[in-house]
Amino acid sequence: MCGIVGYVGGTNKAVEVLMGGLRRLEYRGYDSAGIAVIDEEGVLNSVKRAGKLAMLSDELKRHPVNAGRTGIGHTRWATHGGPTDENAHPHLADNGKLALIHNGIIENFGPLKAELLAEGYTFESETDTEVAAVLLGREYQRVGDLGEAFRSVVARLDGAFTLLALHQDQPGVVVGARRNSPLVIGLGDGENFLGSDVAAFIEYTRRAVAIGQDQIVTITPDSVTVTDFFGAPVEVEEFDVAWDASASDKGGWSSFMAKEVSEQPDAVANTLRGRIVDGVVVIPELAEFGDEALARIRRIVIIACGTAAYAGQVAKYAIEKWAKVPVDVELSHEFRYRDPVIENDTLVVSISQSGETMDTLMAVKYAREAGAVAISICNTQGATIPRESNAVIYTHAGPEVAVASTKAFVAQIAALYLFALHLARVRGTLGSAELLEHTAELQAIPEKIATTLLQGDAVRQLATWMTDSRAVLFLGRHVGFPIALEGALKLKELAYIHAEGFAAGELKHGPIALIEPGQPVFVVVPSPRGSAHLHPKVVSNIQEIRARGARVIVIAEQGDAAVLPFADTVIHIPLAAPLFEPLLAVVPLQLFAMELATAKGLDVDQPRNLAKSVTVE
Ligand code: G6P
Repeated sequence: MCGIVGYVGGTNKAVEVLMGGLRRLEYRGYDSAGIAVIDEEGVLNSVKRAGKLAMLSDELKRHPVNAGRTGIGHTRWATHGGPTDENAHPHLADNGKLALIHNGIIENFGPLKAELLAEGYTFESETDTEVAAVLLGREYQRVGDLGEAFRSVVARLDGAFTLLALHQDQPGVVVGARRNSPLVIGLGDGENFLGSDVAAFIEYTRRAVAIGQDQIVTITPDSVTVTDFFGAPVEVEEFDVAWDASASDKGGWSSFMAKEVSEQPDAVANTLRGRIVDGVVVIPELAEFGDEALARIRRIVIIACGTAAYAGQVAKYAIEKWAKVPVDVELSHEFRYRDPVIENDTLVVSISQSGETMDTLMAVKYAREAGAVAISICNTQGATIPRESNAVIYTHAGPEVAVASTKAFVAQIAALYLFALHLARVRGTLGSAELLEHTAELQAIPEKIATTLLQGDAVRQLATWMTDSRAVLFLGRHVGFPIALEGALKLKELAYIHAEGFAAGELKHGPIALIEPGQPVFVVVPSPRGSAHLHPKVVSNIQEIRARGARVIVIAEQGDAAVLPFADTVIHIPLAAPLFEPLLAVVPLQLFAMELATAKGLDVDQPRNLAKSVTVE
């Protein structure tokens, strides 16, 4: 959702920095964009347009903004008011001398707007943001300083917000404030940056500082000052961004999605790197809990949304089998608002690629307030959810830009499996031989994913045949069930085809009514060796749908001969122990959705209506 970038520097490159930063934040999903720059003559210029960044670039060509040293830029994902030029940010106030951008939702904007209208102020947009801009303009006129004006404005706002503003009477200054929505500082040499995440400024610096909750930051070319909402100074900690700028480029691939799918072997390998020593899982990030505290846990609640929630569902099978702790997997937004039972021996594990998903953030905060210990699995350094958790296990998938999650998903499962094996060791539920066996399986996964990716051509051909499909079903059992759900989600997200995932055993209880001649059904088949009891049951399920005319595409282990007579198409995956099959079986399903969307001429990186970083509830 909304992307934010701010810049102050010594040279006239504000427009270039802002446009580059917005381009790198495009992945968040947006429907309009704009910038405001204080130009060389000290005049504030603002240009904004509905539509993609190309529209803004065209507008800038028609009406160039003079070079400047101070600026803010924004990509908007519409919430209050449609995606129009007027509703795009920045919003201006104080007779066009002040510009403000916003990510989040100001929940009490209604009464604030009424108050300002009564005082004679006027509005040009339908947004909640313009209310904050006008309020800030009014306060600036009163106090004559942006930082001080910010302090009185944030005290009046309810909801979630990152706000960035500049005023032409204070050139060389950008002020930002954050509550619940993300904001990170980039530290340069004679220049400083602000961004929704580090991607916004990674081209210029890899030195960053995360801003905490309810804090205000003021940047000038030579200084960075962070205070709380009352003006008291706050200690901040600098970190080095592990990603480099090229990692967030397409690098010759047709799409970020194609690149990221292909990077999955590395995503898993990098997540495992250094965390398995002589067959023993080592997670220093959990050291502060001590083994005893982990051994005392009676229940785990995994909270996440979208693809991350399916990673959690896969991990439930492994954690319960290996560490013998009951696991509930909950969608963050459902968990948060239903008075869940949380006891002091409940461990909450959140999963989030971005670390910014508002639903998950609110659920983590709620769980901690209720007394739970919270661990997060996250892919983005400096993000909010890890900061709100007691500990974080980072996945090292590298920047994921395509909206639909792929490499982060396999990295999440790898991190959760490390966690499960660590838990099993400290709880004494697995012996060293079993731990060795499972860690060896995990370490073999990157190569097996690489082998699975070789199925790309076969999957592309299948996708090309199936572009006219109106609905596709996905079936799986055990860990194959969440993979069926993820396969269906990918197809919905990318190809806009109605798709549903079902537990294969549930078929006869309802979904089988959907089967009619020609209905395509993907079936994730468990290994006949590893799941001897389940395999025949899935083969029976396949026969049941075949008997009713379904067109069956199976994802089966190499050498699984029993399933061949009943499949219209077979996609093979390498041999793996049952709990590790999801890391392979998901790959052809990702490829299928991507290829089918590509064959339909759709944008696989930025599907319609979706945002990668969902920073509103
Ligand atoms: C959005 C994205 C999904 C993602 C979900 C959770 O809905 O479109 O791809 O799985 O958010 O995101 P997170 O960053 O919390 O993993």
